[in-house]
Amino acid sequence: MRYADQTPPVGVSRAPWPALDVDVLIVPVLEGERPAAAALLDAATSGRVNAALESREFTAKPNTVFVSPSIAADWRPGRVLLVGLGQRATCDTSRVRQAAASGALSARERRWRRLAVALPGVLAPAEEAQTLAEGVTLAAYDAGIYKSDADERPVQIGSVISAPASGEADGLAAIERAAARGHVLASCSNLARALANEPANVMTPRVFSDVAGQVGADSGLRVDVLDEERMMGLNMGLLLGVARGSAEPPRLVVLRYDPPAVSTRSVLGLVGKGITFDSGGISIKPSDRMHLMKSDMSGGAAVLSAMKAIAVLKPDQPVVGVIPLVENMPGGRAMRPGDVVRSAEGKTVEVIDTDAEGRLVLADALWYVRQLGATHLVDVATLTGAIGVALGRSTTGLFGTPEWWVDLVGRTANRAGDRTWPLPLFDDYREQLRSDIADLANVGGRPAGSITAAIFLKEFTGGLPWAHLDIASTAWAEDAQPWQPKGPTGVAVRTLAELSCTSAAWPDATP
Ligand code: BES
Ligand code: MN
Ligand code: ZN
Repeated sequence: MRYADQTPPVGVSRAPWPALDVDVLIVPVLEGERPAAAALLDAATSGRVNAALESREFTAKPNTVFVSPSIAADWRPGRVLLVGLGQRATCDTSRVRQAAASGALSARERRWRRLAVALPGVLAPAEEAQTLAEGVTLAAYDAGIYKSDADERPVQIGSVISAPASGEADGLAAIERAAARGHVLASCSNLARALANEPANVMTPRVFSDVAGQVGADSGLRVDVLDEERMMGLNMGLLLGVARGSAEPPRLVVLRYDPPAVSTRSVLGLVGKGITFDSGGISIKPSDRMHLMKSDMSGGAAVLSAMKAIAVLKPDQPVVGVIPLVENMPGGRAMRPGDVVRSAEGKTVEVIDTDAEGRLVLADALWYVRQLGATHLVDVATLTGAIGVALGRSTTGLFGTPEWWVDLVGRTANRAGDRTWPLPLFDDYREQLRSDIADLANVGGRPAGSITAAIFLKEFTGGLPWAHLDIASTAWAEDAQPWQPKGPTGVAVRTLAELSCTSAAWPDATP
């Protein structure tokens, strides 16, 4: 499989609105406020913008849209599209990103290809430019890659951000840099979506590792791919145990980013769950919705895609990414419930349920990323169905230790548009993982299922600062939203990439 960049860069234009050579001008609008440019928009639409605001046909509630042709003879944009930001007090980067995506998606549904987006004027201009660029780039993603009929597939869009004609040159340069950054972050989110969207007959562990090799070669990352033999040499009994039931051999991908200038002795270690299909193994899953388990490698896709973004953004922070890639199948040589397997670190695990496979492969991967010198850890995994019971489909579960590290990851995620909420890891939950014959059992029963899964992972973090993102309910959108179609979301890519740019704020870079 060849991976391709499907999203064109986002430009910045200082041309006045009437001179923009686009199909549509998208204008974000605050609820309950008259848009600053209302008079100009009215002139373009012969009063329709004002009429829509007056009649409350358009209220500017979050992600609502209003469209009018622009009929003034001296206007090049063919239409004006207003999109709601909600109220000023609640308008943050997430609202701006979503509004841009909502506007761009509805334009795209109407098959308009060339888009201009106005700065809302609510946040700092560069911050707005980055989030607008993210929104319009996210809106360019198309999941229907195996459709034959071109009419069934949305058009490719290209966007420019409309910057004020006045103002200093360095202000414009900052907006251009921010737009480029937003485009990188969102096109890498789209890469993660494309990988998660691939069916499991295409996206096997070997194919994923090939794609990782291509990404590495294109972006200057060092890539190492471990095969079964090397994993056996490292005694990765948990990862290899899960792999036993599949005809597809496992892989473990290592990606390294070494910055041009190192200003820290810390090494950020990213680990992503890469189960290319999760049938459950011998503890097989029910068949309804099992097809969605092709996306059980979304954490691995997020790590690979974030590593690509990091290679482009070039922070002064070394980063190593580790992606264990395994297909969880119930073949004749599969691991059985009750089997005991030994981790590379030496701990023994009684496998009560072969469907709790993510924590097994992550345990060996967390150990390995420490062997490679990581000092600060983040793992991303579609780990538990229970996280959707706790937090629903809009919020990623956040776990880890110590508090400052978990806090930093959480704040970075919320700014990046990957909303998270913390859950506790009190020591007494550990009791639920007690095994009668081994060091640990791989499941802790129904109560607090997402927490006991995280407690299991913690056993393999060697006491390093560690955060765990459970994306089982956020990696795949079951319902379309104005800003996002059904399907893969690319969650956590922007969080991980932005996190690699925060190391100046880490209190102790030499733990
Ligand atoms: N990949 C699943 C978790 C999952 C569920 C992801 C739904 C996306 C949507 C994971 O490997 C799993 O099967 N977890 C089990 C754990 C249980 C056996 C303790 C679960 O959540 O049921
Ligand atoms: Mn499973
Ligand atoms: Zn799984």
